[in-house]
Amino acid sequence: MSLLEVRHLAKSFGAVKVADDLSFMLEKGAALGVIGPNGAGKSSMFHLIGGSLKPGAGQILLDGADITALRPEQRCRAGIARTFQVPQPFSKMTVFENLLVPSAFGAGAAEPDGDRYCVQVLEQTGLLRKANQPAGTLTLLERKRLELARALAARPRLLLLDEIAGGLTEHETAQLVETIKEINRSGTAIIWIEHIVHALTAVVQRLMVINFGAKVADGSPGEVMGSTIVKRIYMGIEVA
Ligand SMILES: Nc1ncnc2c1ncn2[C@@H]1O[C@H](COP(=O)(O)OP(=O)(O)OP(=O)(O)O)[C@@H](O)[C@H]1O
Ligand SMILES: [Mg+2]
Repeated sequence: MSLLEVRHLAKSFGAVKVADDLSFMLEKGAALGVIGPNGAGKSSMFHLIGGSLKPGAGQILLDGADITALRPEQRCRAGIARTFQVPQPFSKMTVFENLLVPSAFGAGAAEPDGDRYCVQVLEQTGLLRKANQPAGTLTLLERKRLELARALAARPRLLLLDEIAGGLTEHETAQLVETIKEINRSGTAIIWIEHIVHALTAVVQRLMVINFGAKVADGSPGEVMGSTIVKRIYMGIEVA
């Protein structure tokens, strides 16, 4: 049985289709990269999977169970955690407190060693020395790291990453790639939206391309990046 199954999802804002009969499956522990032009509906897909946006049609299944009607916090408890493209920290709380919230209410809520686990996540994401600083004082890059840290603190089985590498230097991107590989190796399934394709392909075994809310390609990174449809739609190159 697949970890995640998205079935015929549809959602429109007026004339804009952000999900157009979108279907795909993700196996347990897999890593899927998602690319597509600006405004294609990638973040909207995460809002739909995370539960902050209600679909017009379609279903989302986790471990074969229909979670379409569950609220975001119920989906988090069930094992889905996400980052936001525009970071959404609890600004007045410290960095450490920002992790305690998902640790107490996420999928790992019943685990006894929550505080220690949060410290481990801060180490893993390079935020330990910022632990007691209010989240509102962090730089954008640190807030991006905090998004990842908060999602990890929930101990998800499915981690949704929305453009967490944007604005990083080559060296920082390489470090982030290693961190995400490590998370995936420990058994957490990942869907990673990122425009930096070489970072994605260092981690994922599969790439999916979204355009106007529809899935237009899905396969190995080599196949997908070499496909005519990607050259034409995503890269804007006309192919005879
Ligand atoms: N709440 C909303 N109301 C109206 N339109 C919306 C809403 N949310 C998103 N949109 C529109 O839906 C489209 C898809 O947005 P979305 O954020 O999913 O794109 P994206 O693929 O993540 O783009 P980017 O690469 O720029 O992050 C955009 O045209 C956006 O303006
Ligand atoms: Mg987006």
